[in-house]
Amino acid sequence: MNLNDCYNYDDFRKLAKKNLPAPIFHYIDGGSDDETTLKRNTESFLKCDLVPNILASVGEPDLSTTVFGQKIDMPLFLAPTAMQRLYHHDGDKASARAAEKFGTFYSMSTMATSSIEEIANTAGGPKMFQLYIHKDQGLTDNLIDRCKSSGFKSLCLTVDTVVAGNRERDHRWGFTTPPKLTLKSIMSFAAHPKWAFNYLTHKKFELANVSHWTKKGSSIAKGVMEYINEQYDPAMSWKDAEYVVKKWGGPFALKGVMSVEDAKRAIDIGASAILLSNHGGRQLDGSRSPFDQLPLIKDAVGDKLEIILDGGIRRGTHVLKALSLGATACSFGKGFLFALGAGGQAGVEQILKRMRDEIRRDMILLGCKSIKELNKTKIAYR
Ligand code: LAC
Repeated sequence: MNLNDCYNYDDFRKLAKKNLPAPIFHYIDGGSDDETTLKRNTESFLKCDLVPNILASVGEPDLSTTVFGQKIDMPLFLAPTAMQRLYHHDGDKASARAAEKFGTFYSMSTMATSSIEEIANTAGGPKMFQLYIHKDQGLTDNLIDRCKSSGFKSLCLTVDTVVAGNRERDHRWGFTTPPKLTLKSIMSFAAHPKWAFNYLTHKKFELANVSHWTKKGSSIAKGVMEYINEQYDPAMSWKDAEYVVKKWGGPFALKGVMSVEDAKRAIDIGASAILLSNHGGRQLDGSRSPFDQLPLIKDAVGDKLEIILDGGIRRGTHVLKALSLGATACSFGKGFLFALGAGGQAGVEQILKRMRDEIRRDMILLGCKSIKELNKTKIAYR
């Protein structure tokens, strides 16, 4: 199996599973507790169907949308995800370059393995930075200042990870950042000599944005749950979010909003967007899916907030259903990470191409000339 055989999410996932040591594959693939929310995120798209209009003379549909004040060429972008250097030795650089080629957002995690400055010098496309508030306030200020001076134009603050979700696959496989050789994992690393060779012969793994502050997670191996619980501020509040909005002063999203009340409050503190997300089913298991929650949130916030639907996206039709119900754009994490594991930058380009082709084809089949024409009339509930 190679990249050309990858037509959809499952294909990229299969190839990534073949290429990556098991602890790493399961870190991407897994959710928390019983993974019910992880499954629900995708299943929820099945509760309604698309209703096409015929003879609409679509020709070539316009897939562009504007989010965070920036026009993007397709309504799907790369969600912020940690430690990409583990999935491919080019890590964030590969993702950022692929996103730039497709005219869409690359988003950088606080826990990225390239620094803000490296990525600013690597890719000129639209970029968002994802902030985690550490217990150390100085680090928050430092990250925001560096984003400003490096030309990042949008920022999101993750608010659903004040404590780590219970990711039992990580416990079972002993997943750590950086990877640690344990009796259990050593077999899996040895069974993937190409990955191991590339891991060892390329730039040393580090959490490049925070390694000047703490060696934990970079040269001191930590379980990701342990890292989150030690480093992040569990007492984060609306006041902290307001502080970030003011200090940043640009397009800003809260990432991990799920309730109507919180979405309204996001407007009050000056957010321009929310990422409607349950962290890919990796945090509160049993949490509702973003797609189930979308109509309620849209009714409550109208056009006062951009809504980015994040969670469970596998197909172009998922994106189109979300846009029809009021999302401005969608983001996905697992899909592009599997593609990164499957083939580096070429893999991410391949999945973005597949998704863009699906969105384009399905817009024509739906009878829509532009994203603006997607609305509730395109949806019927079962
Ligand atoms: C995760 C964090 C690090 O989901 O965002 O693993």
